[in-house]
This record gives sequence, C-alpha cells and structure tokens, in this order.
Amino acid sequence: MKVLAVLLLCVAVYAKHEQYAGWKSYYVGPKSQEQQQFIGSLVEEYELDFLSHAIIEQEGVVLVKPEHQDGFIKALEEKGIAYRIHAADVKAALDFDDAAIETRRRENLARNGIELPYDNYQEIEVIDAYLADVARRYPDRATLVTGGNSFEGRPINYLRISTTNFEDESKPVIFIDGGIHAREWISPPTVTWAIHKLLENVTEPDLLERFDWILLPVVNPDGYKFTFTNTRFWRKTRSTDQTSISTSCPGVDGNRNYDYFWNTVGTSNNACSDTFAGSTAFSEVETRVVRSILHEHLNRLALYLTMHSHGSMILYPWGNDGSLSNNALALHVVGVAMADAIAELSLPNFRRYVVGNSMLVIGYATSGDSEDYAHYIGVPLSYTVELPGLSSGLNGFHLDPIYIEQVCRETWEGIVAGARRAGDLFVSLAHRN
Ligand SMILES: *[C@@H]1O[C@H](CO)[C@@H](O)[C@H](O)[C@H]1NC(C)=O
Ligand SMILES: [Zn+2]
Repeated sequence: MKVLAVLLLCVAVYAKHEQYAGWKSYYVGPKSQEQQQFIGSLVEEYELDFLSHAIIEQEGVVLVKPEHQDGFIKALEEKGIAYRIHAADVKAALDFDDAAIETRRRENLARNGIELPYDNYQEIEVIDAYLADVARRYPDRATLVTGGNSFEGRPINYLRISTTNFEDESKPVIFIDGGIHAREWISPPTVTWAIHKLLENVTEPDLLERFDWILLPVVNPDGYKFTFTNTRFWRKTRSTDQTSISTSCPGVDGNRNYDYFWNTVGTSNNACSDTFAGSTAFSEVETRVVRSILHEHLNRLALYLTMHSHGSMILYPWGNDGSLSNNALALHVVGVAMADAIAELSLPNFRRYVVGNSMLVIGYATSGDSEDYAHYIGVPLSYTVELPGLSSGLNGFHLDPIYIEQVCRETWEGIVAGARRAGDLFVSLAHRN
C-alpha cells in the first residue's frame, strides 16, 4: 500500500510538465539598443516567452518552443546577438524544481506555526487562511476585505492596515499588490511579508503611525492556482468569456488590461497569446478589483507598488512610449532610494537593481499596465518592481526557496525607504495645495 502511494506520487509529479517536453530556454544578452529592439521584434514570430527582460546591462531568460528553436537561433546569430543555453530540457528542469520544493515541504511538515512560513512557495489556500488568521489576531489594526471574486469564484482578498481605521484623511495611503502574473511566485510572499512587518514584527512603528496600508498578495488567484495544478508558466487570468476561442485559450494578461492606451502597443489580440489584452479594458474582474482600490483612495494614495518577477528592476511610467511624466524626477529619486535600501541588505550573488522608465529600461513599449494606469489617474509614485531571480543552471526556473525570505527581507527595506520618501513628498504636496 505504502509502495503504491509512493509510486502514484512519483507518477503525478513526473507526468506534470509533459507540455514542456522539447522546450528549451536561453539566456540572451543584447549589447546595444538596436540588438535589444531586434530581440523584441522576434517575440511574435517565434512565440517567445521572456521570463525576464533582456536588457543591455543584463541577460534575459526566454522560453522557446521546440518548433521555433532553429529559426530563433538563426535570427540571433545573423545579428551577432549573444546567447547561451539556460535549460536544455525545460521539462526536466521543472521536475527538478518540483523535487526541491517537495523535499522542503516534507522537511517542514513538522513545523506548524501560526505565522506564514517563508521557507517555501505557498498555495493560494494557505495565503488566504493566513490573511484571515492575521486579521483575526490584530482586529484593532487589520481588516480582511474580499474585493471581489475571481472569474472562477475565488475570493480576491486584501488587508487594510491602519491604526485609525482609515478614518484619518490626512494620512497617506500605500497600496502594494502582487500575483497578477500567476507564475511569478516570488511576488505574493513579498506582500505577505509586508503584512508580517506591519502586524507581527513591527520594527518600523512610524510606518504604522504615518500611513494607511492596503496589501493585496494575489490579484489573480485562478491563475496562481493553475500554476500549481497544471501549467507552471501560466501568466494570465483564467477567464473564458473574452472571444469565441477563449474556451480553448482562456485568460487575459492582467497587466495589459488597464485602461491607459489600452491595447495600443506590446499586446496581442490573439486570445492564445500570453500578452492578450482582453476584449476591452478592465474586462477582468481581477483588474477591476485593483482599479476600485486605486480610485477609492485616490485623494491620498502616495505610493503604489506592483510586484513582479524577475529581473531586479524598479520601473516607472510611461511604459507605453518611454516619455517621462511631470513627476519623473521624484519617481526616479524615490526609485533609487528604494534600490539603494535593497542593495544594503542584498546578497553578493544577487544582481543590483536597475531603476528607470519602463520602456527605456526593458527596450520595448507595453500598454495597459497597472503602473501606468495608477500614475495616469493621479498616484504620484507608481512602480513595477521586478524582483530578483536566480535562474542559473541547476536552479531551474524558480528562485530557489532558500532565497524567499532573503528577497522578502530586502524588498521590505525598499518598501520602508519608499514609504518614508513618499510620506515626505505627500506632506510637502499637501502644504502647497
Ligand atoms: C522581529 O524579528 C526579529 C527576528 O527577525 C527579532 O529579533 C525581533 O525581536 C522581532 N521584533 C519584534 C518587535 O517582534
Ligand atoms: Zn509580471
């Protein structure tokens, strides 16, 4: 009986990533803006899936389907663009990741603390249970809100954290979300870590006194669930009501679904594409939940951060055309302050953060992302944070779970620096008005 159970487990694990048989992934390192743009121009033709952006300072990682290997490599070689293999067998690398995660899960089974553990990636049910539990334990400061239900009916939960029950209108609000892109597993824990630091382990009490907080760890719970159960590299939502082919190609890229130059650049009209913008702006209930929060607190929202992975980048508007907003100086200065604070605590084998305009840093334009939308409606400081990833060699595709807590700790330092700067700027703005 026991043998059978073990056998079944192995079969379940190893049958899992069949859909990636024959796929390879590559590091790609453009040396010039021209090369960077050329790489961008190949995305559609070869159905490239970049797990991290290829920029001049650092290589990106791209997934390539079996049928496009030859064409893709030929195109790179013709332009003399440097590349090297990241995973020669994507399915094997994912199986390897699973084994590492499973080993850690078994090691940690005995531990059953109340606090959310940071030694592994957590399923959506565990995150939701934590949010409910921590809200119950800190009723004077934290309120659990279900902003809506996802396409498949899962609650989209967030915490409101305030020492004054959100009633002090003079306090700036800080809003952090994560998990809009389902596969970016390091994103939700950085948001729950902020909850931990504001409720369970308060070492910066000023942040609690000065600000009201909204922390939404998983914007896209359906997609997140699907990356655990079915398709590790799923990025989109799971809606099936967008086009006539959405039942066979579900989902919308949530970070192309916001109503700022929606579907004008860096998006796809093909429902099967990973950057499908949806049938209309805000077609997705998940992005509508974020929109509601942004608008509800707009008059005092000082800072909005949306957590993505990976690439170690802090990016600010405008992503659709590379132009700078009239708040660009503050965006840059506060972005650099966050990156410097992160660097203080970072590890030598982590990349230094790059700070800059979204389009200028990643080399191509994207439209309809939440960073641009939040800034467009009036949030003075709005950033996409591309968290670190260590996807080298045998580490496979996950940031090794041993680094989750490190990333959470250093990212929190960035949030602390960003919040304090945002608070100072907010006060000076309020006085001017
Ligand atoms: C916060 O956590 C650290 C360990 O990371 C611990 O040393 C410290 O005592 C904790 N502080 C509070 C106020 O809980
Ligand atoms: Zn992302």
